[in-house]
Amino acid sequence: MSADDRELAPIRLEIGDKVIELATTRASQGNHGMVITPLLQQTGLVSLDPGFLNTAACASQITFIDGDAGILRYRGYPIEQLAEHSTFLEVALLLMRGELPAARDLEAFETRIDKHMYLSDDFRQIFSVMPRRAHPMATLGAAVNMMAGFYPESLDSLDPAAVSLATVLMLAKMPTIISYIYRRAQGNALLYPKHGQSYIENFARMTFQLPGERFDAPEVFYRALDTLLILHADHEQNCSTSSVRLIGSAQANLYMSVAGGVSALSGPLHGGANEAVLNMLSHIRDNDIDPKDFMNQVKDRRSGVRLMGFGHRVYKSYDPRAAIVKRQADAVLEALGVKDELLDIAHEVEQVALSDDYFIERRLYPNVDFYTGIIYRAMGFPASMFTPLFALGRLPGWIAQWREMIADPAGKIGRPRQVYVGYPKRDYLPLDQRK
Ligand code: CMC
Repeated sequence: MSADDRELAPIRLEIGDKVIELATTRASQGNHGMVITPLLQQTGLVSLDPGFLNTAACASQITFIDGDAGILRYRGYPIEQLAEHSTFLEVALLLMRGELPAARDLEAFETRIDKHMYLSDDFRQIFSVMPRRAHPMATLGAAVNMMAGFYPESLDSLDPAAVSLATVLMLAKMPTIISYIYRRAQGNALLYPKHGQSYIENFARMTFQLPGERFDAPEVFYRALDTLLILHADHEQNCSTSSVRLIGSAQANLYMSVAGGVSALSGPLHGGANEAVLNMLSHIRDNDIDPKDFMNQVKDRRSGVRLMGFGHRVYKSYDPRAAIVKRQADAVLEALGVKDELLDIAHEVEQVALSDDYFIERRLYPNVDFYTGIIYRAMGFPASMFTPLFALGRLPGWIAQWREMIADPAGKIGRPRQVYVGYPKRDYLPLDQRK
């Protein structure tokens, strides 16, 4: 796998009067690793790295990002090529198996997925139990957890056949679950998947078809949705993926590990940003705020306002996914005949930000979430459904990373250390002696 298999010399580290030697792991691309595990035993020190700014939790072969150059590759393939030529299910196989599938393997996989998109009537109960105003991410997390109860034959994390079944069941049922969350919020009856329709067509029809009507969308609609899912499919050790890996490191089953990923994704600093961007743009429009004034609020630290959809822990240049989505937004809106003033506001806000010293100095650029909501909105999704769409896209990445973690012979349960800064020992005071 490595372009250069030469051994990397160990690192000699001088700490006080001790010199310790730390082994290294050569990266095929990007930053090499220094194995700090012996540090504690040899020096009594733990490494402290809040937010994991400089901590690799694993070695992985799945996704490569060069944040300075704006590069993203799945299993070596540039995101731009996959977005243009591939399909979501093909990318899912690529992420999980490591290679682009042969035509017959892809077809067999699609057929297997197609067979399992159905949800039983018992499972469908959850959508009427949850209140209509429940946030879709709350229902989605509950539904993914519930799968562990419904499919007990696929729970054994160490049995490859069970994991393969859980993988297919999750990929197959997720679009159905997400469409049902939307329909329930709309007060519409739940529809069934249809054999013979593609994954994306089934998802769109189950979501949008109105009673007594046909659902038809132009090819550009399906292609854009498929592409957006591809763009979200993996992003190495982000917050939700790291959560999935951490939960799975306890050998928790795939469903419950992924449910943890759904929870992490719901946060506005992560997947919830796409919904927050749309709310921000609507706020700017509804209050007739000049983008320059809005930017002044963002730069005023006391305001607590962030420019949502901007900035990234890893990308210090234009997020390559955002570049694709931005191009797509103009094309899709035009093809769907949608005129959205929020797109104009987004362009304006971006321009103001990219020429402002605050953003230039901090190397803050639009991330994937900046323009996606505008496309989803043009397709008919309300803002509250944007993060579930992100979750559907990220699902193959969560699964691939979980599978890589569980199959790693060097794998260990995740258990960070801490630096304790609380009270030293003190004695219990009875209630009547406390002030
Ligand atoms: N608006 C204004 N200032 C920002 C922003 C922003 N969106 N992002 C970062 N900064 C500033 C931040 O205040 C800090 O300034 P200073 O050095 O003066 O303290 C500096 O830039 C570095 O930011 P940070 O918060 O230390 O960076 P981080 O790597 O911890 O956070 C981030 C990354 C994505 C959470 C953050 O950029 C952010 O909150 N962005 C807005 C939310 C967002 O769009 N999230 C989606 C991320 S991409 C898709 C995904 O992962 O789901």
